[in-house]
Amino acid sequence: MEFTVSCKIDVSKGVEELSEKIAKILQSGASASENYFTVALSGGSTPKTIFKYLSRNYKDKILWNKIKFFWGDERCVPADHPDSNYLMTKENLFGKIEIRAENIFPIDGDNIPAEEVVSYSSIIKENVVMKDGFPSFDLILLGLGEDGHTASIFPNQIELLDSKNICEVALHPLLNQKRITLTGEVINNADQIIFLVTGASKAKMIDTILNKRTDFEKLPASFVKPKQGKLIWMLDEAAASLIAT
Ligand code: 6PG
Repeated sequence: MEFTVSCKIDVSKGVEELSEKIAKILQSGASASENYFTVALSGGSTPKTIFKYLSRNYKDKILWNKIKFFWGDERCVPADHPDSNYLMTKENLFGKIEIRAENIFPIDGDNIPAEEVVSYSSIIKENVVMKDGFPSFDLILLGLGEDGHTASIFPNQIELLDSKNICEVALHPLLNQKRITLTGEVINNADQIIFLVTGASKAKMIDTILNKRTDFEKLPASFVKPKQGKLIWMLDEAAASLIAT
């Protein structure tokens, strides 16, 4: 397993400035794409704020139908369940912009997890460019859990990073909630990976991972390193407060 060795750290004053940067990346990605700009979304509180910003400020400024949206992970719950990442994205973004349903590829959290892994992997293979035998998303947005998890790859299932499958069934260690997650092979095969991390509660984890403190190698997020693409840690000042930038 390879550790995160080189990456760009981009610190914003707050989540609004960070959201504006993500908006510009989506705007340019969609405009520049000759076909579709493929994006895997994350759940979590920071993406939720970003989605609200996008729907308020970029409703008519992004070629939304040039983007195909997927998820990096999903909770195994129905699409109308409050835990659903799809529902959160629909309520804060998709329900407020003009985007065709065929541009949105939800993970079916209501399906039998082992069957959804197969089904969603096929959907990804049909819609995302393959590179070196794995799908290569144009952009993957990731969050960072306080335990160092990313997507739904948790420290006690760190082996999911090295699975040769496109997706795997994961289990939240505290909630015992099943999840569907992209594997490390697919995450690290992306053209660009952006971590979205805000808040003082993540500062210690950011320091541990970026400065390779004790036990950093036990944290899944430490192994996010695109084979050929770019990695950017987009932080707010609070999350970056323990690192020199
Ligand atoms: C999820 C996310 C998960 C999230 C982190 C950070 O489905 O919950 O994919 O990986 O990004 O837990 O979440 P917050 O941004 O809410 O702290």
